[in-house]
Amino acid sequence: MLKLDIKKVAPFVSAETINGFAGSVAEAQKSLEAGTCPGNDFLGWLHLPSSITPEFITEIKAVAATLRSECEAVVVAGIGGSYLGAKAVIEALSNSFQWLVNDGKNPVILFAGNNIGEDYLSELTTYLKGKRFGVINISKSGTTTETALAFRLLKKQCESQMGKDVAKKVIVAITDAKRGAARTCADKEGYKSFIIPDNVGGRFSVLTPVGLLPIAVAGFDIEQLVKGAQDMEQAAAAPFAENVAAQYAATRYALYESGKKIEILANYQPKLHFMAEWWKQLYGESEGKDKKGIFPASVDLTTDLHSMGQWIQDGERSIFETVISVENPEHELLFPSDDENLDGLNFLAGKRVDEVNKMAELGTQLAHVDGGVPNIRIAIDRLDAYHLGQLIYFFERACGIHCQLLGVNAFNQPGVEAYKKNMFALLGKPGYEKETEAIKEKLRG
Ligand code: PA5
Repeated sequence: MLKLDIKKVAPFVSAETINGFAGSVAEAQKSLEAGTCPGNDFLGWLHLPSSITPEFITEIKAVAATLRSECEAVVVAGIGGSYLGAKAVIEALSNSFQWLVNDGKNPVILFAGNNIGEDYLSELTTYLKGKRFGVINISKSGTTTETALAFRLLKKQCESQMGKDVAKKVIVAITDAKRGAARTCADKEGYKSFIIPDNVGGRFSVLTPVGLLPIAVAGFDIEQLVKGAQDMEQAAAAPFAENVAAQYAATRYALYESGKKIEILANYQPKLHFMAEWWKQLYGESEGKDKKGIFPASVDLTTDLHSMGQWIQDGERSIFETVISVENPEHELLFPSDDENLDGLNFLAGKRVDEVNKMAELGTQLAHVDGGVPNIRIAIDRLDAYHLGQLIYFFERACGIHCQLLGVNAFNQPGVEAYKKNMFALLGKPGYEKETEAIKEKLRG
């Protein structure tokens, strides 16, 4: 089971202070369970893992099998919660050099619809030219500009390269049951589609078809992913003293109250880069409202010790660090000996590379604590689907609890609308005439 170590928080916030929040955490858990918290119509994620049936997994796997057999490449079109979970899990489980070692057994998984980069989209469509490719179009609202743009391009290209009949087999929609352009299009064209439950928001949706289908198409074990989440769902119901999610939430809150406003999620495995991106969205979009919330940042270590390390060690003391540590790497590699020993590193010869990495981790933690940075450590046994499932639910549950402690609605994102309103006004979207005038006036001066 995932381990949480908060000993290195002690010089900054005492165990008594953290344990003092146990009562509020219990209240928060109760309000999640009873559905009395703000945003209570979006609590479908809370018992999602335990509600997933073997039949549902079989259905996902059947659709994944079709895409895997028909396609050399599959493009996952989605943004925010409609892509980050799948991207995080696929990256964490894939070979680091998947582009180069692809043996043709798995389709290449590509992501689009998460930006408006003209070069990105042109280069994607160029790469797909002449290839048998499929599309998983993911949008809960079905109206998100970034995703809709990518889908328009991909649908046209897929149909023109493979014909309408094949396109129907290899385009899958994951969207609302009734509303939105993605639903209308899927129904009209006869695409296979999955529903994003009404009561599950985007950033909590990785264990719905939003995450499960792309992960299954990539060839990874979604049963184990769900099993890990189910085990953590159970563990997260335990009393405070045995409940890692509750303790993580209380520790973050104690640190926030003590003036630590930024949390840096650090990993020592480059494959976890996108896990941090998923985590940043989960926490950033859930907490950052009403002028409250911990700012979620991330670093890949030891890489970023040579860029961000100086700031973390010596900059303004408003940060704390949470390290995700993977206890056992999948491979074994020894530090090589060298006859000339020009770099003076022969004292490491014969040691596991992971031992060096772990000492870098411990040394960094100690240095950061000495430098005034409280340190939380989350350890998982290995980087596999089961442990990622645990990690995902752990973070979701702790996020739900922490937002109650902060007193914010975890499940809305009103701030996201501001850029859309301006963008549509600037682009002259019909219905935005007043906003267009107002923004022009503002720009004039
Ligand atoms: O967490 C969220 O709700 C958001 O990040 C959404 O996932 C994101 O904005 C994409 O929305 P949609 O799935 O409606 O296209």
